[in-house]
Amino acid sequence: MADLLTLDDIDLSTLGGKRTFVRVDFNVPISEDHKVLDATRLEEALPTIRELAGAGAVVILASHLGRPKGKRDPRYTLRPVADELRQLLGEGVRFAGDCVGEEVEDLIRAMDPGEVILLENLRFHAEEEKNDPAFAGRLAALAEVYVDDAFGSAHRAHASVVGVPERLGRKAAGRLLAREVEALGRLLGEPERPFAALLGGAKIEGKIDTLQNLLPRLDLLLLGGGMANTFLAAQGHEVGGSLYEPDRVEVAQGILKDAKSRGVEVLLPTDVVVAETLDDPARVRTVPADRIPADAKVFDIGPDTRRKFAGAIGRAKTLFWNGPLGVFEKPPFDAGTREVAQALASCPGFSVIGGGETVAAAHQAGVADRLGHVSTGGGASLEFLAGKTLPGVAVLEKGR
Ligand code: 3PG
Ligand code: MG
Repeated sequence: MADLLTLDDIDLSTLGGKRTFVRVDFNVPISEDHKVLDATRLEEALPTIRELAGAGAVVILASHLGRPKGKRDPRYTLRPVADELRQLLGEGVRFAGDCVGEEVEDLIRAMDPGEVILLENLRFHAEEEKNDPAFAGRLAALAEVYVDDAFGSAHRAHASVVGVPERLGRKAAGRLLAREVEALGRLLGEPERPFAALLGGAKIEGKIDTLQNLLPRLDLLLLGGGMANTFLAAQGHEVGGSLYEPDRVEVAQGILKDAKSRGVEVLLPTDVVVAETLDDPARVRTVPADRIPADAKVFDIGPDTRRKFAGAIGRAKTLFWNGPLGVFEKPPFDAGTREVAQALASCPGFSVIGGGETVAAAHQAGVADRLGHVSTGGGASLEFLAGKTLPGVAVLEKGR
């Protein structure tokens, strides 16, 4: 496991008055009336922000929000996030209307040690995602020290994630980033067994590398959500009108074969909740997974599957879960995900979950504080577990 520079490697007693650029991932859901709907990512970054502010640093927070495609777009302003941050940190939190330029520089110059400012959305500049050298240079010129606490963005080789730390001599991972790398690293190290992975979500796409990297380490593989349909198809079952990936049936067959040869127990749905459309709750039925009617679509795992999944979770000494097991945002098709989330409370081992909907499900089930680690990264946690080097992590390795 990579040895990361952390806040412990930065002498905090020397940070007084030092302008410190802190990349955070405040890419959070925002309501139409501009309110933060889930502040988890803000709360998780607070320890680092408080530690730096407490050391007297001038704390410059930078994040992206959504995908505004390089243009200023009021729908993606971070202003509501600054308002929420004030609720958490106090009235002193400032907001800058841009992330580079003279006005921002003036605002920062006027700050006192220990003060906090949030810059406007980095992605209002197309140069951010391109890791444009001149743009990275302008961001880096705002500060003397770099701290990255944006695990959710560590898989993006963007200017604020790699370009800025490449330009600043003093840099470190914040508390959240370090904790994420440690917890997810445990899964790839020598996890206590049985080790179970529970994967859901709409598609296999984006999870193939993760599946393949985890498989040799796993004892149990539980599959639900839309992606399970492709596995059911791989076993020769009809999936009716369900969402599935015809061009990934072969990949699914390969994974099932590989799992078998390695002795990994695979649990696929044995029963499923189906309907003709998402908007016809009156005609929701539960059917065996090998008898899905031609006109039906699978929207959730059935009660028998939930029981089996809960049983497997109750045996796991290490567990990773990413992805809802049904159409979680559309009741009654959230029931499978909810019940399985509740079962996490009975997992005797070290459990890690990642991905926005999965984390939301764990919170709703009231089990989030009983888990080993709740990752703030969706794509980033999957790429980490796929064994890929995350650019935002690599740039903070010791001795680079
Ligand atoms: C996320 O929410 O997955 C991260 O903030 C990264 O966002 P992105 O997928 O738009 O790069
Ligand atoms: Mg994403």
